[in-house]
Amino acid sequence: MSDINALKTELSTEIEAATDLAALDEVRVSVLGKKGRITALMKTLGRMDPEERKTTGQALNVLKDEIAALIKRQESALKKQAMDVRLASETLDISLPPRPERKGHVHPISQTIEEMVTIFASMGFSVAEGPDIEDDWHNFTALNFPPGHPAREMQDTFFLPDDESEQGERAKKLLRTHTSSVQIRNMTEIAKTGAPPIKTICFGRTYRSDYDMTHTPMFHQMECLFIDKDVTMAHLKGCLTDFVRTFFALDDLPVRFRPSFFPFVEPGAEVDIGYVKNKDGSIKLGKAPEGQEQKWMEILGSGMVHPNVLKNCGIDPEEYQGFAFGCGIERIAMLKYGIPDLRTFFDCDVRWLAHYGFSSIDRPNAATGQ
Ligand code: PHE
Repeated sequence: MSDINALKTELSTEIEAATDLAALDEVRVSVLGKKGRITALMKTLGRMDPEERKTTGQALNVLKDEIAALIKRQESALKKQAMDVRLASETLDISLPPRPERKGHVHPISQTIEEMVTIFASMGFSVAEGPDIEDDWHNFTALNFPPGHPAREMQDTFFLPDDESEQGERAKKLLRTHTSSVQIRNMTEIAKTGAPPIKTICFGRTYRSDYDMTHTPMFHQMECLFIDKDVTMAHLKGCLTDFVRTFFALDDLPVRFRPSFFPFVEPGAEVDIGYVKNKDGSIKLGKAPEGQEQKWMEILGSGMVHPNVLKNCGIDPEEYQGFAFGCGIERIAMLKYGIPDLRTFFDCDVRWLAHYGFSSIDRPNAATGQ
């Protein structure tokens, strides 16, 4: 029994002497492990007579529990100590001023698209989408561009390598030259599953091989399409005039329709808005005051959807008509926000974006720009 007491004292000292968790674990293995000292003593019980086995066995069990508890206590003390050391060495100096946070800006293209969505949504239009990589059918043929027609050349097209697995017009892949291709997808889809009215707008990237101050090989267009039973040119004029006046926030902005040709509309019209030239050469949108010359600039293409286009999409032109118009988004963003060079839209210069971009929080009212 005194042996056991002596062992207890010895082990307690060893446990207290362990100054880190690894050392403590070594003590634990040497005492309670398979070959540990208490384990070894347990094994001697078998050789004792019953009476001695009983008392020694009990004492050993008590010792074992006491030692295990001591190890546990020492372990939590050591863990706490380690945490205290970490806390002391890893303190944060919360009095340090924070680094200035860089604020992002909304690109003028995104802002302009959002403004247009707001205006057209208030007129009951929904947003349609189509792919950037188109085929000849959706970009040209279905839009009434006959094969070899010079109008195809009007839009210097980026063609993609032929797709061996497909045949005919669908095989010829290209980067869409305008968003009018979305009209075709939109009308074909509706004709398959139901019937007009169709009242959609779409926005997206378009591509033409062109590069100067007012052209980039990739730019954005918007397209508006309205098909129903009694749609007339008067609806086109009303909708368009409302749109440009709301967009530029000028109630009396002069709007002029000029006959023009696009294969997919008949009649077709280009839309001009009025401006005046200031003495310093800059321009101001709006009606010319008495004595000053009213100038015009073209901003849109428009027209009544050609009967061939409706037929190509499975819509009966005897029953339905409609209008479409489309325009470059950069162009009207440049006009509204006074951005002089189209190429800068895609230079990815954060200084440009900080100047012409919009704060994501305090942006002007999307519909009116005020
Ligand atoms: N798609 C024409 C263009 O890219 C614009 C347009 C759209 C004209 C709809 C008429 C009707 O120039």
